[in-house]
Amino acid sequence: MNIRRVTNEERLSTAFPLQAYAFEASPKRPEQAEDFRRVLPYAAANRTLVVTEGDETVAVASAIPMRQNLRGVVLPMAGVAGVTTHPLARRHGHVRALLHQLLDEMRDEGHPVSALYPFRASFYERFGYVGLPRARTVTLSPAGLAPLLRADLPGELTWERTGTGYAAHRAFTERCLAERHGFAILPETRAVWLRDEDDRWLVTARRDGATVGVLTYRIDDHDGELVGGPLLAADPYARALLLQFLARHVDQVARVSLQVAADELPELWLTDLDVHVEARIAGPGSPAPMARLLSLDALAGLPAGPARVRVELTGDRWLAGTHLLDGATGHLELVEDVSSAAAPTATLTAAGLSALAYGVLDPAEVDVRGLGRVPADAAAELRRLFPRRLPYLHAEF
Ligand SMILES: CC(C)(COP(=O)(O)OP(=O)(O)OC[C@H]1O[C@@H](n2cnc3c(N)ncnc32)[C@H](O)[C@@H]1OP(=O)(O)O)[C@@H](O)C(=O)NCCC(=O)NCCS
Repeated sequence: MNIRRVTNEERLSTAFPLQAYAFEASPKRPEQAEDFRRVLPYAAANRTLVVTEGDETVAVASAIPMRQNLRGVVLPMAGVAGVTTHPLARRHGHVRALLHQLLDEMRDEGHPVSALYPFRASFYERFGYVGLPRARTVTLSPAGLAPLLRADLPGELTWERTGTGYAAHRAFTERCLAERHGFAILPETRAVWLRDEDDRWLVTARRDGATVGVLTYRIDDHDGELVGGPLLAADPYARALLLQFLARHVDQVARVSLQVAADELPELWLTDLDVHVEARIAGPGSPAPMARLLSLDALAGLPAGPARVRVELTGDRWLAGTHLLDGATGHLELVEDVSSAAAPTATLTAAGLSALAYGVLDPAEVDVRGLGRVPADAAAELRRLFPRRLPYLHAEF
């Protein structure tokens, strides 16, 4: 199998046509090839590998160099995207080979974690990925937010298009990256799409000169819907300031929708709030994200409870061997010589260990889900080492 990395310019004739076939309406009119050139700069930082047969590209996979917060530590992350095979070449092992090489290369270049949005979770579970929570969509009437109109809140709002507000928005996502477990952001070359498309409004909450909250949105029609993106706020005052802004649209739109992290509870925002909160996971069009550790380097130094456990890693290309995980100092240490250590033992797949590191599953759930064998004594230790925490990936790619 001939696998090679393509240059940015080569994407136009190799990766993009195949990805457009898989992920967009088609066939395209010839002039729509112009769209490929328009989006080319945003792909510049990506690593794209293709499988070729003669002159023809038969499969493609890309990795976006991103960054992600894992339990307070910001790590380089490989965001896998645009994975597809020519319809006549499917089920020949092309994507398996591509993903192996792509993740080998990203790992060797120092990306110890990876995330993606799967077309089918079970396909990527076999590559060691585990499900993360999907962001919730909150739908409400602006009338329900009326009590906030009377609230005297610290700070002020600015309102502009994303084209002019991009830099402040980007800076706030950098702050969220530093502070929030699971949060991931795109490289600058790709993130500027938000600025260049300039097709959304941006409302920004500021306090004492600093940005404390952002929301992008568009309005689909008069008496229609205000369609919001992720509601990012540093604290409840900032969130309330943004919701107060939405309340002022009461005679303009019938509905407001917003994206929030899975640990947000909109039903507690206000008394008598009529609100619908939904996370619908369905088919390739509405996936929950997945993530995995690509290297145990991701674990070293993470905050951890006082516990010790031996883990035997099984069935994975990138995570293998037996390791002692020790949280005695309050930070996770990986001890090389495990032979003499007295500690309970768990056997984990890459997805099982990733589930614990990301805080999405309890050790008993890892056992129940078949992502490892976790006896009760090892589960108790793992529970202290990796307390459950809900990650919020945020970035879409
Ligand atoms: C899904 C897709 C990317 C798989 O590519 P491929 O080159 O056919 O995959 P491979 O032949 O390398 O298959 C790898 C393994 O996954 C299995 N597999 C392939 N397609 C699968 C599917 N749709 N569902 C479940 N398993 C699948 C294969 O049987 C194989 O298993 P094995 O190793 O036990 O034999 C390809 O069919 C495709 O392009 N689909 C349309 C676009 C798409 O959905 N892209 C994914 C976006 S994230």
